[in-house]
Amino acid sequence: MALHHRLSLWQKILLGIFCFPLLPIYVCVYCLCLKDEEKESERNEATVEHVERGLNQPTYVNASFRNRGFQYSEEQANQNRNKASDGQLENFKVISKGKGSNLSFSNRGFKEDEEDKSQQRSATSAGQKENVQIPSKDNWRVSFRNRVHKEDEVPVEPKKKKLEDKHITNYRYPWDRTSLKSLPIDLKAFEKLDAYAAKVTSNHTVDLLVKELLRYARTDLEKTRAIWIWISHHIEYDTEGLKNLSRVSCDPNDVLRTGRGVCAGYSSLFERMCSIAGVQCKSVSGYSKGAGYKTGQKFSGASTHAWNMVYLEESWHLLDSTWGAGTVSYNGPFTFGYNEFYFLTHPALFIGEHFPEYRKHQLLEPCILQDQFEKLVHCESHFYNMGLLSSLPDTCTVETVKGKVSFTLEGRQRLLFLFHLNKTETPGFMQLTEHGMKLDVYPQKTGEQILQIFAKREDSEGSYDWILDYKIICKSVDTNMKIPKCLHNPVGPSWLSEKAGLFQPSHQDPVIYTEDGCCTVSFALKGQLDVFATLESDEIKMTSDMKNRHIFQTQRKNNVEFRVRLPTSGTYVLCVNVKNPNADTYTSQCEYVIICTKRTVHWPKFPLTYGTWAKHYELLEPLDGILPENSNISFKLRVPDVTEVSVREGKNSFPLSLTDQGYWEGICHTGATQELTVTVCFKDKPNVYNFILQYQVGPKK
Ligand SMILES: *[C@@H]1O[C@H](CO)[C@@H](O)[C@H](O)[C@H]1NC(C)=O
Ligand SMILES: *[C@@H]1O[C@H](CO)[C@@H](O)[C@H](O)[C@H]1NC(C)=O
Ligand SMILES: *[C@@H]1O[C@H](CO)[C@@H](O)[C@H](O)[C@H]1NC(C)=O
Ligand SMILES: *[C@@H]1O[C@H](CO)[C@@H](O)[C@H](O)[C@H]1NC(C)=O
Ligand SMILES: *[C@@H]1O[C@H](CO)[C@@H](O)[C@H](O)[C@H]1NC(C)=O
Ligand SMILES: *[C@@H]1O[C@H](CO)[C@@H](O)[C@H](O)[C@H]1NC(C)=O
Repeated sequence: MALHHRLSLWQKILLGIFCFPLLPIYVCVYCLCLKDEEKESERNEATVEHVERGLNQPTYVNASFRNRGFQYSEEQANQNRNKASDGQLENFKVISKGKGSNLSFSNRGFKEDEEDKSQQRSATSAGQKENVQIPSKDNWRVSFRNRVHKEDEVPVEPKKKKLEDKHITNYRYPWDRTSLKSLPIDLKAFEKLDAYAAKVTSNHTVDLLVKELLRYARTDLEKTRAIWIWISHHIEYDTEGLKNLSRVSCDPNDVLRTGRGVCAGYSSLFERMCSIAGVQCKSVSGYSKGAGYKTGQKFSGASTHAWNMVYLEESWHLLDSTWGAGTVSYNGPFTFGYNEFYFLTHPALFIGEHFPEYRKHQLLEPCILQDQFEKLVHCESHFYNMGLLSSLPDTCTVETVKGKVSFTLEGRQRLLFLFHLNKTETPGFMQLTEHGMKLDVYPQKTGEQILQIFAKREDSEGSYDWILDYKIICKSVDTNMKIPKCLHNPVGPSWLSEKAGLFQPSHQDPVIYTEDGCCTVSFALKGQLDVFATLESDEIKMTSDMKNRHIFQTQRKNNVEFRVRLPTSGTYVLCVNVKNPNADTYTSQCEYVIICTKRTVHWPKFPLTYGTWAKHYELLEPLDGILPENSNISFKLRVPDVTEVSVREGKNSFPLSLTDQGYWEGICHTGATQELTVTVCFKDKPNVYNFILQYQVGPKK
């Protein structure tokens, strides 16, 4: 075990152990210290590059949509890619690529598992667990240099290898959706242990800290958990150190003493603490889709991140204590923010963001190739933490087809979403589904753009969390599809509009195409709601008269119907506004896009309704608010509980008669006047005439 520590300590040593029949414990160590000046300069270069493309700008989602059923009050979802990763581990890579090859180490990494384990077991039985002495770098190099050369002469014993393969359990890929973890864990059962471990303070040595931490931990899982909780609550990411990695120590003692480290520091401390606790653990290095990752990018060169593998209940499991501890914002400080996701993450999910240098460390069957890793859509921990299960397409780069690209997200619960393209635009229609959403994006420019999607729980008051990115490649723009700026996503009916009381929508699709410029949208209302709809457009200047007078509302019992006649062809937004009887304001609860491309459409507005026009009144004809002069017009209305209905034109009055079906009907002659009104008399005041409708009279066309 002592040996094992040392390895992880420096992160600069490649260790190979082969066992050969000599003693009951066969250990042979090959080490190579890479602290050459040459490699050092390589490393610094890599570091600088990493920092430059490192910690991305956080994404601020500034949205303040009033009149929405839910408030997006200035929320900031600024956690984009703020997971730290660093360039500490390049040396592993350098070895296998450069020097290592001279020493015939090329495939060595592959065997690391068995080798480490046999070493650990040996070390443990040899009682070397305690009193680990860290040699100085120079000693280390000197003391192991010689053995490197020995190695060439020592053959690998195949028997031993087979024996240890038993301990590797590979997890199925793709993910079977049953659990986020690779072990069934009852987090409730850990509550006490977690609370205790988080509170342990230590200004002592690593050994004393572990002793303290293990006070209530019995099983290896509990021990690992206590260490995990402690590290993720006490070790700060060293954002300053990241700027100059040559100054950062990854020695567990230094990490503990300073309380800070880069990812290699976290993983070496984790490994060291596990080793003291008697839990098999190793550091793993590789590429990550963390800080600095650009959607769709390729990876090459040195490893940039480090994490751990622990051996629990007869198989290996993965964890990333750096990302479990918190996040880093652009040029800003590290913020503690415990993330359960990275503890014993299911390998099929872990691979989404972590690509180990050695395939074996994926713990997957089948393994993922680097090319696949690069193409995989990047789902962030929040994606899974929010109960989302899948995102289609599952590749991070997608091309538009006829100017459009569609996405589908599915999960286990209701979520609210936001999206934007290149951080500024929202050229698309997003409709909530029962446990996810559908999104159609119509980029308005050709070229590459980044689509970012954010989500939050239905009942959450807080901000939206960034959950994933896509890179959209748009070769041609669909110029027919103009997304109205006045449109607010989500669009169309959903559980959200149902929550507001709008049920049984006549149109499920948020986009309504109409040939003649007319359509009728209806809902069943739940409860005593007040509703009205408005029509908006970017293309023509809509006066407030136009916004309201091109929709005519009719309500029969709980069914509300909005008859729409577009003033001209074009693209419009129909907003259905809802108010509870005890609320003060209406909020827009369901929006549709109405598209009419035919050019000849020109509908007049509907007649004006006065305040006396009650919700349950019904107008069958005439619906045009502008009537031709000198014409006979037939009227038909349902106006219950009145004694008289008449149409008045100047001094003339045309009384309508009540039919057996309950309609007030009659013919009225429009003269040369400009206005025509409909009046009613209520039962309680039979001599008072009340205006309910007003028409304009214009020249015949
Ligand atoms: C978004 O909000 C942040 C912080 O309040 C502000 O700095 C930034 O300028 C805003 N961006 C836009 C596009 O309004
Ligand atoms: C390793 O081999 C390469 C070419 O194969 C050679 O250029 C380099 O000097 C060798 N390094 C050592 C340390 O032998
Ligand atoms: C640890 O800190 C406590 C108080 O913070 C102090 O009393 C104690 O001497 C410290 N122990 C060591 C070993 O530094
Ligand atoms: C990094 O730190 C080392 C040691 O303190 C120093 O010599 C070097 O100049 C620093 N490099 C940068 C880029 O700051
Ligand atoms: C979107 O942003 C990326 C990088 O920020 C840029 O390269 C690209 O040109 C932008 N796309 C458009 C269409 O503006
Ligand atoms: C209107 O109706 C009256 C009587 O029913 C008829 O005499 C008159 O010609 C009609 N006017 C028009 C313009 O149709």
